Amino acid sequence: MPYTVPKLTDFSAAALDGAVRELLSALEQESAAVGSEDGWKVFRDRWMARKNGVLTQVNDLWLKAAPKDAKRDVGQRVNEVRTKVEEEVSKKSVWKLTRGMRSAKTAVDQADHWSAEWLQNSRLDSEKVDITLPGIRRPIGAEHPVIKTMNEIVGVFRNLGYSVEEGPEIETDYYNFEALNFPPNHPARDTQDTLFIAGQDSKPQRDRLLLRTHTSPVQIRTMQKMKPPVRVVCPGKVHRNDALDATHSPIFHQVEGLAVDTNITFCDLKGTLDHAMKALFGSSVKTRFYPSFFPFTEPSADVQISCIFCGGKGTRDGAPCRNCKASGWIELLGCGMVDPNVYGFVDYDATKVSGFAFGMGVERIAILKYGVDDIQLFFQGDVRFLEQFG
Ligand code: PHE
Repeated sequence: MPYTVPKLTDFSAAALDGAVRELLSALEQESAAVGSEDGWKVFRDRWMARKNGVLTQVNDLWLKAAPKDAKRDVGQRVNEVRTKVEEEVSKKSVWKLTRGMRSAKTAVDQADHWSAEWLQNSRLDSEKVDITLPGIRRPIGAEHPVIKTMNEIVGVFRNLGYSVEEGPEIETDYYNFEALNFPPNHPARDTQDTLFIAGQDSKPQRDRLLLRTHTSPVQIRTMQKMKPPVRVVCPGKVHRNDALDATHSPIFHQVEGLAVDTNITFCDLKGTLDHAMKALFGSSVKTRFYPSFFPFTEPSADVQISCIFCGGKGTRDGAPCRNCKASGWIELLGCGMVDPNVYGFVDYDATKVSGFAFGMGVERIAILKYGVDDIQLFFQGDVRFLEQFG
């Protein structure tokens, strides 16, 4: 028997509540039975149609029929019933949708649910602290072995009262060669050895730019701005057009030294470099000065130190020492007395002053000090190599 709205005669609260309960249970049952779009339409019209829908009947049979003093109570209940009916009908309105839309809506609802759940879980995940995991390590950098060695060399000369000067890596032909007394056709000026900046053929040779091949141009720059006495060391990067191998790199570093004063002699040069080599390699190291040639020094010498691997004996464990080719000596740097021609370029009086200069390769010294067997290791940035110097 489908539900029909009863005519009320008893308007007491208990009677009203009973009638409402009966109506709502009918609403619930009929709503549960809705299973299709057509079914939903019938359900909606039965309960909400203006003409003869259940709500309209409730209005007529309950509210309009109520005596004055019961109107308030009845009105409240009728409103309550209307809200419930409207809620129920709209809840079932999903049947209004086509079948495709219905499944889409179901999917969207599900996705909403999942994404809320996912958000919640990911928040929980990210806030999770696993105290058994190892902490975050922040590796501490180390001074690069080349810079470390360069600072060490500079430190030795600072202790002797030298100051530090630097110059540009891109130089002119004038500072790199001409003022250093290189003759115009010296092989070092050839592109075989020097990296020139392109497209400068229209400039006079002395103005052409190149990557400095040694730190000696800083000697000239220093003497141009300082009067004697001068005692400077000039650390820096230099470039040569060399193919790379275990002992050559097109980029490397030098420390240049220059001392100019009155009465500076070759003995001062020998004493200074002998001290420096002992400070760098240990006091048992001996030095010897071997005649050589540089355009900007006269006389010139190559400095050799007694082999630090075989102690200068030339043999190690009964076999010829490979580090010094069994000679007992290792060639390390160039030096000499500043050629008087150079003073002419910087307005020093060559009859009054004298001085010496030297230049050493930083990588070469680092290789010997630390027993590194390939110069390339300094430039490859491999942390496993570099961290050993930390
Ligand atoms: N500039 C020279 C070179 O690079 C080294 C050197 C410097 C020699 C100072 C003598 C005096 O080979």
